[in-house]
Amino acid sequence: MKAVLAYSGGLDTSICVRLLQEEYGCDVVTVTVDVGIPEDELKEAGEKARALGAKHYQIDAREEFATQYIFRAIKANGSYEGYPLSTALARPLIARKVVDVARREGAGVLAHGATGKGNDQFRFEAVFRTEAPDMRIIAPIREKNLTRKESIAYAKKHGIEIGGDKPFSIDENLWGRSIEGGVLEDPSAPAPEEIFQWTRVSKKEPETLEIEFQRGLPVAVDGKRQGAVELITALNERAGAHGVGRIDIIEDRIIGLKSRENYECPAAVVLLEAHRDLEGLVLTREELRFKEMVDSRWSELVYRGLWNEPLRAALEAFIEKTQERVTGTVTVELKRGCARVVGRESEHALYSEGDVSFDEAGADGREILGMLRYHAYQAALHRRKPPL
Ligand code: ARG
Repeated sequence: MKAVLAYSGGLDTSICVRLLQEEYGCDVVTVTVDVGIPEDELKEAGEKARALGAKHYQIDAREEFATQYIFRAIKANGSYEGYPLSTALARPLIARKVVDVARREGAGVLAHGATGKGNDQFRFEAVFRTEAPDMRIIAPIREKNLTRKESIAYAKKHGIEIGGDKPFSIDENLWGRSIEGGVLEDPSAPAPEEIFQWTRVSKKEPETLEIEFQRGLPVAVDGKRQGAVELITALNERAGAHGVGRIDIIEDRIIGLKSRENYECPAAVVLLEAHRDLEGLVLTREELRFKEMVDSRWSELVYRGLWNEPLRAALEAFIEKTQERVTGTVTVELKRGCARVVGRESEHALYSEGDVSFDEAGADGREILGMLRYHAYQAALHRRKPPL
């Protein structure tokens, strides 16, 4: 039996290789999908996989991740309870690459290392089950119900390198870094500084940057045109240096558990702030209100791993239409952990300085009287009725 495993090189997925071989009698092929993982970790993952006796694939999917997944999230102001969906966005792409390799290798088994408590199991399996219903799924960590302690013991017994003894579970890609576990499981305790890698608490002088959007997508920063991957990578560094992008929230997981989550998402925070602000300038109030609902439904689907739900594509058709005029430039100030929009302009701005200004006569204030009379009309009728 040949199994293709989504492999990160971390503790859980490394144990999975051994478990698949020993307990399930599988021939294991590992796939590490590069969605913006540090170079050395990629290299290490490959070496580890081979040392465990697996055939290894490394797939560079950064461009695809940025343009086909992150870009959709920007247009949809993708956010679930304040989380920019970094891990959630990457899982369907990783799952698809695993299916591709399985087809190429003629494998009958798809495997992942997610536990039975988290969200990732749903995200991997939703794609596996919709795109490869003919294949069997094995999830060793969930099926053996292994705790982190038991995983570590198993790794030691089988000579699998644990890679430091940091008790944190970390997931990282272009759109953000998530840190869970260890002392973070006490939601009352502030996160220790050591968990952060992309953001620094800095006393750096504030700086401003100009982000240019075209049809809802960022195309240049400070006048410099950049591809998606470069733009996001550079922004992670630049905003991270101001401590921008730290998120510490209580999150409602798919199965209903509440969990304490820490993220570092500098580029995501800056781009989402800027994009939302620009929409405020160019879309009508009606469009904005309706889009808020659409955005939140879209985010919920993505969080729950329902990438293949047809509603996603339907919502995106609406979103796409609204983005036609989301073109312009937003100025963002980075200052002590915050990204704040301080200016915006667009050729499509629905803004009339002449009409809104206190300094100019503009629209005749006297014409408003009729509207004022009827503004609270129903409330006034209600008031006149005797109380119940
Ligand atoms: N709570 C986040 C999510 O559900 C982060 C998950 C991180 N996953 C991981 N295997 N460390 O998207």
